[in-house]
Amino acid sequence: MSALLSIDRLRVELPAGKGMRTVIHDVSLDIRAGEAVALVGESGSGKSMTTRAVMRLLPQGARLSGDIRFDGVSIPAMDRRALRGWRATRVGMVFQDPRAHINPVRTIGDFLVEGVMLDGRLSASRARERISPLMRAVGIADVDRRLGQYPHELSGGLLQRVMIAAALSTEPELLLADEPTTALDVTTQEEVVAIIDELRRERGLAMLFITHDLDLAAAVCDSIAVMYAGSIVEERKTGPSGLDPSHPYAKGLLAARPKLGRRERRLPTIEGRPISAFEVSAGCAFATRCPLVHDRCRRERPVPARVPGGRVACHRIEESGSADSDGGAR
Ligand SMILES: Nc1ncnc2c1ncn2[C@@H]1O[C@H](COP(=O)(O)OP(=O)(O)O)[C@@H](O)[C@H]1O
Ligand SMILES: [Mg+2]
Repeated sequence: MSALLSIDRLRVELPAGKGMRTVIHDVSLDIRAGEAVALVGESGSGKSMTTRAVMRLLPQGARLSGDIRFDGVSIPAMDRRALRGWRATRVGMVFQDPRAHINPVRTIGDFLVEGVMLDGRLSASRARERISPLMRAVGIADVDRRLGQYPHELSGGLLQRVMIAAALSTEPELLLADEPTTALDVTTQEEVVAIIDELRRERGLAMLFITHDLDLAAAVCDSIAVMYAGSIVEERKTGPSGLDPSHPYAKGLLAARPKLGRRERRLPTIEGRPISAFEVSAGCAFATRCPLVHDRCRRERPVPARVPGGRVACHRIEESGSADSDGGAR
Protein backbone atom coordinates (compact mmCIF):
# COMPACT_ATOMS: atom_id res chain seq x y z
CA MET A 1 0.00 0.00 0.00
CA SER A 2 1.35 3.40 -0.84
CA ALA A 3 1.89 5.96 1.90
CA LEU A 4 -0.56 8.71 2.88
CA LEU A 5 2.36 11.01 3.68
CA SER A 6 5.65 10.38 1.96
CA ILE A 7 8.69 12.49 2.80
CA ASP A 8 11.39 11.86 0.25
CA ARG A 9 14.98 13.04 0.77
CA LEU A 10 13.82 16.26 2.39
CA ARG A 11 16.45 18.89 2.87
CA VAL A 12 15.80 22.27 4.47
CA GLU A 13 18.21 25.18 4.55
CA LEU A 14 17.62 28.40 6.45
CA PRO A 15 19.24 31.78 5.87
CA ALA A 16 22.01 32.54 8.37
CA GLY A 17 24.05 35.71 7.94
CA LYS A 18 25.19 35.82 4.32
CA GLY A 19 24.77 32.12 3.68
CA MET A 20 22.41 29.24 4.27
CA ARG A 21 22.46 26.61 6.98
CA THR A 22 21.22 23.06 6.51
CA VAL A 23 18.86 22.12 9.33
CA ILE A 24 17.25 19.03 7.76
CA HIS A 25 19.50 16.63 5.89
CA ASP A 26 18.04 13.96 3.59
CA VAL A 27 15.05 12.91 5.65
CA SER A 28 12.84 10.18 4.19
CA LEU A 29 9.80 8.94 6.08
CA ASP A 30 6.51 7.30 5.13
CA ILE A 31 3.25 7.28 7.07
CA ARG A 32 0.50 4.99 5.84
CA ALA A 33 -3.21 5.69 6.31
CA GLY A 34 -4.14 5.03 9.94
CA GLU A 35 -0.53 4.57 11.03
CA ALA A 36 1.09 6.45 13.92
CA VAL A 37 4.77 7.33 13.58
CA ALA A 38 6.81 9.06 16.26
CA LEU A 39 9.65 11.45 15.57
CA VAL A 40 11.97 11.41 18.58
CA GLY A 41 15.15 13.30 19.34
CA GLU A 42 16.80 15.92 21.50
CA SER A 43 15.99 19.60 21.23
CA GLY A 44 17.35 21.11 18.00
CA SER A 45 17.47 17.82 16.09
CA GLY A 46 14.98 19.09 13.48
CA LYS A 47 11.67 17.57 14.56
CA SER A 48 9.66 20.80 14.38
CA MET A 49 11.33 21.91 11.16
CA THR A 50 10.32 18.61 9.54
CA THR A 51 6.66 19.17 10.53
CA ARG A 52 6.82 22.78 9.43
CA ALA A 53 8.11 21.64 6.04
CA VAL A 54 5.13 19.27 5.75
CA MET A 55 2.69 22.10 6.56
CA ARG A 56 4.65 24.55 4.41
CA LEU A 57 5.16 26.78 7.42
CA LEU A 58 8.92 27.20 7.10
CA PRO A 59 10.62 30.44 8.19
CA GLN A 60 11.02 33.24 5.62
CA GLY A 61 13.77 32.57 3.08
CA ALA A 62 13.92 28.83 3.74
CA ARG A 63 15.01 26.59 0.86
CA LEU A 64 13.51 23.14 0.51
CA SER A 65 14.59 20.26 -1.70
CA GLY A 66 13.36 16.71 -2.04
CA ASP A 67 9.63 16.13 -2.00
CA ILE A 68 6.71 15.68 0.38
CA ARG A 69 3.65 13.96 -1.04
CA PHE A 70 0.24 13.63 0.53
CA ASP A 71 -1.90 10.98 -1.12
CA GLY A 72 0.40 11.23 -4.12
CA VAL A 73 0.23 15.03 -4.45
CA SER A 74 3.37 17.11 -3.93
CA ILE A 75 2.84 19.60 -1.09
CA PRO A 76 5.74 21.92 -2.10
CA ALA A 77 4.23 22.09 -5.60
CA MET A 78 0.67 22.98 -4.50
CA ASP A 79 -0.61 26.42 -5.48
CA ARG A 80 -2.02 28.72 -2.73
CA ARG A 81 -5.59 27.60 -3.25
CA ALA A 82 -4.80 23.88 -3.19
CA LEU A 83 -2.62 24.38 -0.12
CA ARG A 84 -5.42 26.18 1.73
CA GLY A 85 -7.91 23.49 0.83
CA TRP A 86 -5.53 20.74 1.91
CA ARG A 87 -4.76 22.37 5.25
CA ALA A 88 -8.43 23.07 5.91
CA THR A 89 -9.71 19.57 5.26
CA ARG A 90 -7.11 16.82 5.25
CA VAL A 91 -4.58 17.59 7.96
CA GLY A 92 -4.88 18.72 11.59
CA MET A 93 -2.16 20.12 13.77
CA VAL A 94 -1.60 20.33 17.52
CA PHE A 95 1.32 22.38 18.84
CA GLN A 96 3.39 22.42 22.00
CA ASP A 97 2.08 25.75 23.24
CA PRO A 98 -1.67 26.16 22.63
CA ARG A 99 -1.66 29.80 23.82
CA ALA A 100 0.65 30.83 21.01
CA HIS A 101 -1.82 29.49 18.43
CA ILE A 102 -5.12 30.92 19.57
CA ASN A 103 -6.38 34.49 19.33
CA PRO A 104 -6.62 35.73 22.95
CA VAL A 105 -9.47 38.18 22.26
CA ARG A 106 -11.88 35.70 20.64
CA THR A 107 -14.00 33.17 22.50
CA ILE A 108 -13.35 29.42 22.38
CA GLY A 109 -16.64 29.03 20.50
CA ASP A 110 -15.67 31.55 17.81
CA PHE A 111 -12.28 29.88 17.43
CA LEU A 112 -13.79 26.43 16.96
CA VAL A 113 -16.59 27.53 14.62
CA GLU A 114 -14.15 29.43 12.45
CA GLY A 115 -11.87 26.38 12.25
CA VAL A 116 -14.67 24.09 11.14
CA MET A 117 -15.98 26.58 8.58
CA LEU A 118 -12.55 27.36 7.20
CA ASP A 119 -12.56 27.70 3.45
CA GLY A 120 -16.35 28.07 3.52
CA ARG A 121 -17.07 24.38 3.23
CA LEU A 122 -19.63 24.41 6.05
CA SER A 123 -22.23 26.91 7.29
CA ALA A 124 -21.87 28.41 10.77
CA SER A 125 -24.87 26.48 12.07
CA ARG A 126 -23.62 23.13 10.73
CA ALA A 127 -20.21 23.95 12.19
CA ARG A 128 -21.77 24.53 15.62
CA GLU A 129 -23.53 21.18 15.46
CA ARG A 130 -20.21 19.46 14.95
CA ILE A 131 -18.48 21.16 17.83
CA SER A 132 -20.43 20.07 20.93
CA PRO A 133 -19.89 16.32 20.48
CA LEU A 134 -16.22 16.96 19.74
CA MET A 135 -15.82 19.00 22.92
CA ARG A 136 -17.31 16.13 24.89
CA ALA A 137 -15.07 13.64 23.06
CA VAL A 138 -11.96 15.49 24.25
CA GLY A 139 -13.27 15.35 27.81
CA ILE A 140 -14.73 18.84 28.24
CA ALA A 141 -17.83 18.59 30.41
CA ASP A 142 -19.59 21.97 30.59
CA VAL A 143 -19.45 22.65 26.88
CA ASP A 144 -21.80 25.66 26.67
CA ARG A 145 -19.98 27.58 29.40
CA ARG A 146 -16.57 26.82 27.84
CA LEU A 147 -17.64 27.97 24.38
CA GLY A 148 -18.38 31.44 25.79
CA GLN A 149 -15.04 31.75 27.60
CA TYR A 150 -11.75 33.32 26.48
CA PRO A 151 -8.44 31.43 26.23
CA HIS A 152 -7.02 33.00 29.42
CA GLU A 153 -9.94 31.58 31.42
CA LEU A 154 -8.89 28.01 30.58
CA SER A 155 -6.01 26.00 32.05
CA GLY A 156 -3.24 24.80 29.71
CA GLY A 157 -4.64 21.29 29.74
CA LEU A 158 -8.16 22.42 28.86
CA LEU A 159 -6.87 24.69 26.15
CA GLN A 160 -4.87 21.83 24.64
CA ARG A 161 -8.09 19.76 24.59
CA VAL A 162 -9.73 22.62 22.69
CA MET A 163 -6.83 22.56 20.21
CA ILE A 164 -7.26 18.81 19.73
CA ALA A 165 -10.99 19.33 19.13
CA ALA A 166 -10.13 22.04 16.59
CA ALA A 167 -7.59 19.80 14.85
CA LEU A 168 -10.12 16.97 14.56
CA SER A 169 -13.12 19.16 13.68
CA THR A 170 -12.39 19.13 9.96
CA GLU A 171 -12.18 15.32 9.98
CA PRO A 172 -8.59 15.16 8.72
CA GLU A 173 -6.76 12.01 7.64
CA LEU A 174 -3.48 13.03 9.23
CA LEU A 175 -2.74 14.58 12.60
CA LEU A 176 0.57 16.35 13.18
CA ALA A 177 1.25 16.66 16.91
CA ASP A 178 4.39 18.59 17.81
CA GLU A 179 5.20 17.91 21.49
CA PRO A 180 1.52 18.37 22.37
CA THR A 181 2.02 17.68 26.07
CA THR A 182 5.48 19.10 26.81
CA ALA A 183 4.10 22.34 28.26
CA LEU A 184 1.59 20.56 30.54
CA ASP A 185 1.98 19.15 34.06
CA VAL A 186 2.52 15.40 34.35
CA THR A 187 -1.03 14.31 35.22
CA THR A 188 -2.54 16.49 32.49
CA GLN A 189 0.07 15.16 30.03
CA GLU A 190 -1.16 11.62 30.54
CA GLU A 191 -4.80 12.61 30.08
CA VAL A 192 -4.10 14.57 26.91
CA VAL A 193 -2.02 11.74 25.42
CA ALA A 194 -4.78 9.26 26.25
CA ILE A 195 -7.34 11.47 24.45
CA ILE A 196 -5.17 11.85 21.35
CA ASP A 197 -4.47 8.11 21.29
CA GLU A 198 -8.10 7.09 21.71
CA LEU A 199 -9.58 9.54 19.21
CA ARG A 200 -6.90 8.72 16.66
CA ARG A 201 -7.56 5.00 16.87
CA GLU A 202 -11.34 5.43 16.78
CA ARG A 203 -11.14 7.56 13.67
CA GLY A 204 -8.39 5.60 11.91
CA LEU A 205 -6.28 8.76 11.71
CA ALA A 206 -2.67 8.68 10.67
CA MET A 207 -0.38 10.64 12.98
CA LEU A 208 3.09 12.09 13.15
CA PHE A 209 3.74 12.39 16.86
CA ILE A 210 6.72 14.47 17.90
CA THR A 211 8.24 14.00 21.31
CA HIS A 212 11.56 13.76 23.10
CA ASP A 213 10.12 10.95 25.24
CA LEU A 214 10.92 7.50 23.84
CA ASP A 215 8.60 5.62 26.18
CA LEU A 216 5.68 7.84 25.28
CA ALA A 217 6.50 7.39 21.59
CA ALA A 218 6.54 3.60 21.98
CA ALA A 219 3.24 3.64 23.88
CA VAL A 220 1.20 5.50 21.26
CA CYS A 221 2.93 4.81 17.94
CA ASP A 222 3.37 1.92 15.52
CA SER A 223 6.90 2.94 14.66
CA ILE A 224 9.57 5.35 15.81
CA ALA A 225 12.02 7.46 13.85
CA VAL A 226 14.96 8.79 15.86
CA MET A 227 16.42 12.10 14.66
CA TYR A 228 19.90 13.39 15.29
CA ALA A 229 21.38 16.57 13.82
CA GLY A 230 18.71 16.91 11.14
CA SER A 231 18.78 13.28 9.98
CA ILE A 232 16.89 10.11 10.85
CA VAL A 233 19.44 7.69 12.32
CA GLU A 234 17.05 4.86 13.08
CA GLU A 235 13.52 3.86 12.20
CA ARG A 236 11.92 0.92 13.91
CA LYS A 237 8.54 -0.71 14.51
CA THR A 238 7.42 -0.72 18.13
CA GLY A 239 6.66 -4.20 19.39
CA PRO A 240 4.98 -5.70 22.43
CA SER A 241 8.41 -6.48 23.89
CA GLY A 242 9.23 -2.78 24.13
CA LEU A 243 12.01 -0.84 22.48
CA ASP A 244 15.22 -2.40 21.34
CA PRO A 245 17.03 0.14 19.17
CA SER A 246 20.41 -0.60 17.65
CA HIS A 247 21.87 2.81 16.71
CA PRO A 248 24.33 3.93 19.42
CA TYR A 249 22.51 7.28 19.71
CA ALA A 250 19.08 5.66 20.06
CA LYS A 251 20.53 3.26 22.64
CA GLY A 252 21.96 6.23 24.52
CA LEU A 253 18.59 8.03 24.48
CA LEU A 254 16.93 4.92 25.85
CA ALA A 255 19.51 4.52 28.62
CA ALA A 256 19.30 8.20 29.56
CA ARG A 257 15.55 8.31 30.05
CA PRO A 258 14.16 8.56 33.58
CA LYS A 259 12.49 5.35 34.66
CA LEU A 260 9.06 5.54 36.21
CA GLY A 261 8.98 4.63 39.87
CA ARG A 262 12.77 4.53 40.15
CA ARG A 263 14.58 7.34 41.90
CA GLU A 264 18.05 7.57 40.52
CA ARG A 265 20.58 9.92 42.00
CA ARG A 266 22.00 10.77 38.65
CA LEU A 267 20.56 10.17 35.24
CA PRO A 268 22.96 8.64 32.75
CA THR A 269 23.48 11.05 29.88
CA ILE A 270 25.12 10.86 26.47
CA GLU A 271 28.61 12.39 26.57
CA GLY A 272 29.03 15.66 24.69
CA ARG A 273 26.38 18.04 23.37
CA PRO A 274 23.90 17.55 20.55
CA ILE A 275 24.84 19.32 17.31
CA SER A 276 22.79 20.78 14.48
CA ALA A 277 22.87 19.54 10.90
CA PHE A 278 24.99 22.49 9.73
CA GLU A 279 27.74 21.59 12.22
CA VAL A 280 28.19 18.12 10.78
CA SER A 281 31.42 17.71 8.82
CA ALA A 282 32.14 14.68 6.64
CA GLY A 283 31.17 11.42 8.25
CA CYS A 284 28.53 10.38 10.74
CA ALA A 285 26.84 13.21 12.65
CA PHE A 286 27.05 11.23 15.88
CA ALA A 287 30.78 10.40 15.50
CA THR A 288 31.87 13.06 18.03
CA ARG A 289 29.81 11.44 20.80
CA CYS A 290 29.68 7.79 19.79
CA PRO A 291 31.20 5.16 22.07
CA LEU A 292 31.73 2.86 19.05
CA VAL A 293 33.35 5.46 16.75
CA HIS A 294 35.88 4.23 14.18
CA ASP A 295 37.93 5.96 11.49
CA ARG A 296 35.38 5.27 8.78
CA CYS A 297 32.64 6.97 10.86
CA ARG A 298 34.61 10.24 10.76
CA ARG A 299 35.17 10.08 7.00
CA GLU A 300 32.04 8.71 5.44
CA ARG A 301 28.39 9.50 6.12
CA PRO A 302 26.39 6.32 6.77
CA VAL A 303 23.17 5.79 4.79
CA PRO A 304 20.14 4.01 6.25
CA ALA A 305 20.28 0.24 5.80
CA ARG A 306 17.67 -2.35 6.54
CA VAL A 307 17.78 -4.28 9.80
CA PRO A 308 15.12 -6.64 11.10
CA GLY A 309 12.14 -4.41 12.00
CA GLY A 310 13.52 -1.17 10.64
CA ARG A 311 16.37 0.89 9.16
CA VAL A 312 19.56 2.13 10.76
CA ALA A 313 22.26 4.52 9.52
CA CYS A 314 25.44 3.27 11.21
CA HIS A 315 28.69 1.86 9.80
CA ARG A 316 29.35 -0.16 12.92
CA ILE A 317 26.02 -1.97 12.72
CA GLU A 318 26.57 -2.57 9.02
CA GLU A 319 30.02 -3.99 9.74
CA SER A 320 28.65 -6.26 12.44
CA GLY A 321 26.58 -7.95 9.71
CA SER A 322 23.13 -7.23 11.12
CA ALA A 323 22.21 -4.78 8.35
CA ASP A 324 21.46 -5.18 4.63
CA SER A 325 23.15 -2.22 3.07
CA ASP A 326 20.53 -1.67 0.40
CA GLY A 327 19.77 1.80 1.73
CA GLY A 328 16.21 0.98 0.81
CA ALA A 329 12.83 1.94 2.11
CA ARG A 330 11.16 -0.24 4.69
N1 LIG B 1 13.21 30.18 12.90
C1 LIG B 1 14.43 29.63 12.84
N2 LIG B 1 15.44 30.25 12.19
C2 LIG B 1 16.67 29.72 12.09
N3 LIG B 1 17.01 28.52 12.62
C3 LIG B 1 16.06 27.84 13.26
C4 LIG B 1 14.71 28.33 13.41
N4 LIG B 1 14.01 27.44 14.12
C5 LIG B 1 14.85 26.42 14.39
N5 LIG B 1 16.08 26.64 13.88
C6 LIG B 1 17.23 25.73 13.92
O1 LIG B 1 16.87 24.56 13.17
C7 LIG B 1 17.36 23.39 13.79
C8 LIG B 1 16.21 22.44 14.04
O2 LIG B 1 15.31 23.02 14.97
P1 LIG B 1 13.90 22.38 15.37
O3 LIG B 1 13.30 21.71 14.19
O4 LIG B 1 13.12 23.44 16.03
O5 LIG B 1 14.34 21.27 16.44
P2 LIG B 1 13.45 20.39 17.43
O6 LIG B 1 12.01 20.63 17.11
O7 LIG B 1 13.89 18.97 17.18
O8 LIG B 1 13.83 20.83 18.81
C9 LIG B 1 18.09 23.87 15.04
O9 LIG B 1 19.45 23.96 14.73
C10 LIG B 1 17.51 25.23 15.32
O10 LIG B 1 18.43 26.03 15.98
MG1 LIG C 1 10.50 21.37 18.35
